[in-house]
Amino acid sequence: MKKLAYLILGLAALAAAGLTYLTLKSPNSAPPSTIRIEATAARLERGRYIFGNLADCAGCHSERDWTKAGAPVIAGRNGAGVAFPKELGLPGDIVAPNITPDPTTGIGTWTDGEKIRAIREGVSKDGRALFPFMPYKGYRHMSDEDVQSLVVYLNALPPVNHAVARTKLNFPVNLFIKDAPQPVTVPVAAPQTSNPAKYGEYLVNLGGCRDCHTQQERGTPKEGMLLAGGFVFHVGQFTVLSANITPEVETGLGSWSEQRFIDKFRGYSGHTPETAAQATQANFTLMPWTNLSRLTDQDLKALYAFLRTVKPVKNAVEPHKPLTLP
Ligand code: HEC
Ligand code: HEC
Repeated sequence: MKKLAYLILGLAALAAAGLTYLTLKSPNSAPPSTIRIEATAARLERGRYIFGNLADCAGCHSERDWTKAGAPVIAGRNGAGVAFPKELGLPGDIVAPNITPDPTTGIGTWTDGEKIRAIREGVSKDGRALFPFMPYKGYRHMSDEDVQSLVVYLNALPPVNHAVARTKLNFPVNLFIKDAPQPVTVPVAAPQTSNPAKYGEYLVNLGGCRDCHTQQERGTPKEGMLLAGGFVFHVGQFTVLSANITPEVETGLGSWSEQRFIDKFRGYSGHTPETAAQATQANFTLMPWTNLSRLTDQDLKALYAFLRTVKPVKNAVEPHKPLTLP
């Protein structure tokens, strides 16, 4: 009897010690670099392409008009921060911060090195771990030149004075995410474009395709379902499921030619916020079609080439199937 009591006490003490450890633990991080990036026209342009087309930073960090198809960013709100809708079912009150150069409500007082660290390593200026819904696990593969271009663009964004709350994560997710950040300790070279599939993988890391196209269970990708779609997104009254983009013939993109793939994206290239149709259950989507429709031919071909190399997974998805909130 006594032994059992000791055992229980011992276990409770261990659990308490574990929790204390996790609560006090700081995320794995390194000091930010002291780099001061030279702003050039080429970097600004490259940064604009990554921010606005490839990585859709604006899509997460801006208020959007959900009454319109494609949910365009509200004019004057580019990068100004937003709290995510509750219906998305994330573990807490998740807020994408204001990343414009406003000195009080944005990141105007951050050094270039601090910005690079947040983007690639997931550590905020104050040393706190960022919730990995911010896709820094993919961005850690972003080349030095690309992340520097991105920072040049961030520095040039019109500052918007817009205060947003800080992310509040539920327990125990708030403790577990401390393991997500990881310093980038070696130089990251520019991607080789000569091997389209390999280059396509680089683009997928920046484009967050895996994050939306892979179902998750408690914040981790579901085993064996990489890019197989079926992730359910609820926003307001609408629902959309991500598509299966593995090369499976019946339920994925297996039968798609490269041309069909490119045409699908280019089909959205005329879309603008002004001409966007009213959002309906049939057209509602989170897929950043408008941004991605303006990728270069080379990049779309590389994305296609990479997607041909992933494991085909049979998973039939009906993206616009009406679903009611749980
Ligand atoms: C899928 C949504 C999403 C995308 C895409 C995204 N972010 Fe974030 N980002 C977030 C969220 C959410 C946070 C805050 C996490 C937290 O508070 O724990 C964040 C945090 C940040 C921070 C830290 C700000 C601070 O005050 O701590 C920076 C800088 C940042 N993002 C820049 C970017 C850039 C640049 C891109 C594009 C390359 C990008 N983000 C793409 C969701 C996103
Ligand atoms: C923010 C979430 C999100 C991101 C990021 C995202 N997608 Fe999607 N994608 C979706 C959703 C939801 C659908 C299904 C609805 C639709 O077709 O618009 C979809 C549909 C598609 C389709 C159409 C498939 C079909 O059968 O019609 C393709 C192709 C695609 N995505 C490729 C990509 C690629 C490549 C990337 C990365 C560069 C990517 N997606 C990034 C959410 C996303």
